[in-house]
Amino acid sequence: LSTPPAAAPTIAAGLGAAGLSRPDRPEAWSRLVVEKPFGSDLPSARVLNAALHAHFAESQIYRIDHYLGKETVQNILILRFANRLFEPAWNRENIDHVQITAAETLGVEHRAGYYDAAGVVRDMFQNHLLQLLSLVAIEPPTRFDADAVRGKKAELVQAIRPIDPGALAARGVRAQYAAGTSEGAPVPAYAAEEGVPPSSTTPTYAALRLEIDNWRWQGVPFYLRAGKRMAERVSEIAVSFKHVPVSIFKPLMADQLSPNVLRLRIQPDESVSLSFEAKHPGPKLCLSTVTMDFDYHKTFGTPPPESYARLIADALCGDQTLFARADEIEASWSLLAPVLEAWSSGDGLDSYAAGSWGPAAADELLAREGRRWLLP
Ligand code: BG6
Repeated sequence: LSTPPAAAPTIAAGLGAAGLSRPDRPEAWSRLVVEKPFGSDLPSARVLNAALHAHFAESQIYRIDHYLGKETVQNILILRFANRLFEPAWNRENIDHVQITAAETLGVEHRAGYYDAAGVVRDMFQNHLLQLLSLVAIEPPTRFDADAVRGKKAELVQAIRPIDPGALAARGVRAQYAAGTSEGAPVPAYAAEEGVPPSSTTPTYAALRLEIDNWRWQGVPFYLRAGKRMAERVSEIAVSFKHVPVSIFKPLMADQLSPNVLRLRIQPDESVSLSFEAKHPGPKLCLSTVTMDFDYHKTFGTPPPESYARLIADALCGDQTLFARADEIEASWSLLAPVLEAWSSGDGLDSYAAGSWGPAAADELLAREGRRWLLP
């Protein structure tokens, strides 16, 4: 169902009425692949789930999130759970904070009809960014299968601390792009784009600070941001480790040691890199931050496959691991409901120049806590 969302219940009911949702032979199957947006808020997502469940079992429903089909996104679980090194450090004792960025250079293109009603929180946070967050933060599943992985993901989204609308001004920023330049060419403001009402208050950028209320992550902030018409197209997860407890080099060098950062570059230049401190050559004690890098393209010699190809193949094979489950989707809408509500009016909407890294208020969000965005 890559259709307008309002058509989904009618289509599911039609397939059901035609007997296509219940195959009559044991070796036959029927599956429904549903493209986003999956609802536009919690009540509509519930209604949609109920409409699909009236004719299809949950095991037949494949809710696509194309981020889960990206190789580098799948690699988050491999990195965490197929290696001994990272997992013992993957917790509040060692990690200072996590940043998740999905920056795009594209503007609204020709999708104003959909986008102006949706905005960045529905378009990127409810699905892609929360999927990335859950893979980075979930507890180890006992098996790599759909039930185990999706169960842990749903649990994680449910453990994200509810967002207090009263505290949102200090925990979130949203903005709309003004005119600027994109890849060297002048581009119009969002409100001047084809099909967008000039008085639109739809945010095209947002940054949110989230916390997870479980033993592993208590006190570790997760900063998420996404925006259109930004300076670069880049999606990245940066895991920033804590400072060493004490620096034995302090008397010899004034500079503070840089904490280790593990960067999972989702796109482009798909890679994983770990920064660490190393000694500069020479008699004086000088340290530099250097990196160990793994580059998908250089190592494997092929560009990553298309995410939809991977997901549709999985749906044909009946593997739901990389598809969102009903409870996970409802938990994500429930989490974001106060944000959507608080940001539904134009009050406090910030602006940023097209081709920039977003509004200054997003830098202040981190600066208030003595941190900064690790990109650019
Ligand atoms: C889609 C959004 O789901 O993801 C788009 O609707 C966005 O607005 C796109 O541009 C981003 O996907 P990617 O794969 O280019 O990061």
